[in-house]
Amino acid sequence: MGKYIIAGNWKMNKLPSETCAYVKEVAAATAGAQCEVVCCTPFTNLAEAVKGAQGTHVSIGAENLHFEDKGAYTGEVSADMLLDLGVKYVIIGHSERRQYFAETDETVNLKVRKALEKGLIPILCVGESLEQREAGITMDLITIQIKKAFAGISADDAAKVVIAYEPIWAIGTGKTATAEQAEEVCGAIRGVLAGLYDESTAKAVTIQYGGSMNAGNAAELLTKPNIDGGLIGGASLKSADFAKIVEAAK
Ligand code: 13P
Repeated sequence: MGKYIIAGNWKMNKLPSETCAYVKEVAAATAGAQCEVVCCTPFTNLAEAVKGAQGTHVSIGAENLHFEDKGAYTGEVSADMLLDLGVKYVIIGHSERRQYFAETDETVNLKVRKALEKGLIPILCVGESLEQREAGITMDLITIQIKKAFAGISADDAAKVVIAYEPIWAIGTGKTATAEQAEEVCGAIRGVLAGLYDESTAKAVTIQYGGSMNAGNAAELLTKPNIDGGLIGGASLKSADFAKIVEAAK
């Protein structure tokens, strides 16, 4: 429904010195891509990543940003700093940031709004824990995450947001959600967006699946009508594996 986007989330992996060559490798390996291809890298690697992506179809994303424009926020990075480097996307609200760095639905909302105001494309992450899934509250939780993240955002801006549904129990565990489980939640997310906005806005939003997505399971996940791409952790660190996922997004 939305535009197909396959994005790698490198997390805290790869050195700045190996980044330019690796992004070039990704560009070469995905030369026939029929979808948008994105590498999201640590802040320190972004300048090299942009250099590697120059003149190719690959776009570069950051893994976080701060919601203020500038000022006394030691250790933080602003939207303008990312834009100045040539960054196009920014991951917001990844479960690892919610879990380890006290990211809340409120800060996620502020960051999504700042990204949109500045012209960065947010990749907004939502997802439930195993405990929440087993308690049967997956959709309640995700509905709250989506409603809070989109608070104060117009329909025009909402259509630009990429949502990544990442069940926490599937991240880095090798335990992928079945295509049916992923489709059920991604379809429900589109329903929440239709309720908040309208059908055409809901259809315009790219909804990715993330969580142990790999060369072997990508094709099945990507055939589902409400799954418009993937946010890839481990498998984005090897260009051949990542390229197979991009290949599956036809
Ligand atoms: P893995 O693909 O390593 O499970 O990570 C998924 C993820 O968290 C992407 O943001």
